[in-house]
Amino acid sequence: MERGHVSSAYDLVLRRVDVATMREPHGYGLMTNAAIGVRGDRIAWIGPDARLPADAAGARTLTLDGHLVTPGLVDCHTHLVYAGNRAHEFERRLEGASYADIARAGGGILGTVRATRAATEDDLLAASRPRLAALADEGVTTVEIKSGYGLDTPTELKQLRVARTLGRLCGVDVRTTLLAAHALPPEFADADAYVAHVCNDTIPAAAGAGLADAVDAFCESIGFTPAQAARVLDAAAAHGLARKLHADQLSDLGGAALAAKAHALSADHLEYTGAAGIAAMRAASTVAVLLPGAFYALRESRAPPVAALRAAGVPMAVATDCNPGTSPTTSPTLMMNMACTLFGLTTAEALAGFTREGARALGLADRGTVEEGRRADLAIWNVREPAELAYRIGGTRCAGVVQAGRLVRAPADHAAR
Ligand code: NIG
Ligand code: FE
Repeated sequence: MERGHVSSAYDLVLRRVDVATMREPHGYGLMTNAAIGVRGDRIAWIGPDARLPADAAGARTLTLDGHLVTPGLVDCHTHLVYAGNRAHEFERRLEGASYADIARAGGGILGTVRATRAATEDDLLAASRPRLAALADEGVTTVEIKSGYGLDTPTELKQLRVARTLGRLCGVDVRTTLLAAHALPPEFADADAYVAHVCNDTIPAAAGAGLADAVDAFCESIGFTPAQAARVLDAAAAHGLARKLHADQLSDLGGAALAAKAHALSADHLEYTGAAGIAAMRAASTVAVLLPGAFYALRESRAPPVAALRAAGVPMAVATDCNPGTSPTTSPTLMMNMACTLFGLTTAEALAGFTREGARALGLADRGTVEEGRRADLAIWNVREPAELAYRIGGTRCAGVVQAGRLVRAPADHAAR
């Protein structure tokens, strides 16, 4: 409380803003000329600015004419903790090699595994921090970060620890996902034996150390079979961890249905998912996470079945998939643009994908919309209408950020506090 001010019901008030509340299933839930009162880490009041309660006087107040407020963005699928990069693979793909060719020749994910194993925790932190900072610049207040470039228990845990530390350093809420079943490490000739190791050693170690919120697996011809992925997801459930799955990215192995059967929070990618997978996801309330960056980078021609997902009422999230191989990007607004241009989402669906549905894909019921009682995670944008966020081809920085009730980035003319 600032000295000399009368006491107030709120700690922070945003006035004269347009708000894309995202609280309705369709559209933006737009409120024009609104005010938002924040108390502690929660949204305590939202309504027309003219009806702002009198006891708001005395709070720290930002008057933000011409700005748009959205929920803080939720990037629900990233692999942003890694060492090195894979620019040389990009060159090879341009020369005609496929992602699968490179993976089978021991490159791809295994190339990043070598670099990540060799990196100290400090190296990994230094390499990854700019990536999380870049997401935060575009309004990300919650991010999921996967392991999967260790493929041995100590390195997987090292990645998860770095992910948690990064969250504290960057002031972003980090959820961690163990992706030990990402590729077969060189030490194992047999995928079943490695999956047994993941189930009996890596998952218990990550759960025991409290380092993972969820477990994921790469179910694909160049990853793990549906039977192997099912074992990983079962072990996750046995240790009380949520489930997610890289499903049907390059072929339809029934990954979406497998994720639904395991009561996974989400099935991700889904380019090759068919009607049975969509029906199973609908029945299990599994979120579809769409990743246009990987689709674009791999020059895929088959888009995920967006019209069928929409018709079935399957919630659709959108994420960056930030990773060194298939989606070297840190721009949520670019992904929103691509989700519209390449996959046919509406601009409102793209924003919902990075807010309400992204939160749902992480099992977080306390955020993703601007409503009383929700966490006060807010992104403040210097744009007139919400469609502008997906309209520009990426790189739209946000003007201000409120994270758990604290103004961590202040719009010009307002000092952060
Ligand atoms: O989401 N498909 C598997 N995993 C990542 C790519 C990882 C990598 O190539 O390093 C993805 O596309
Ligand atoms: Fe991924």
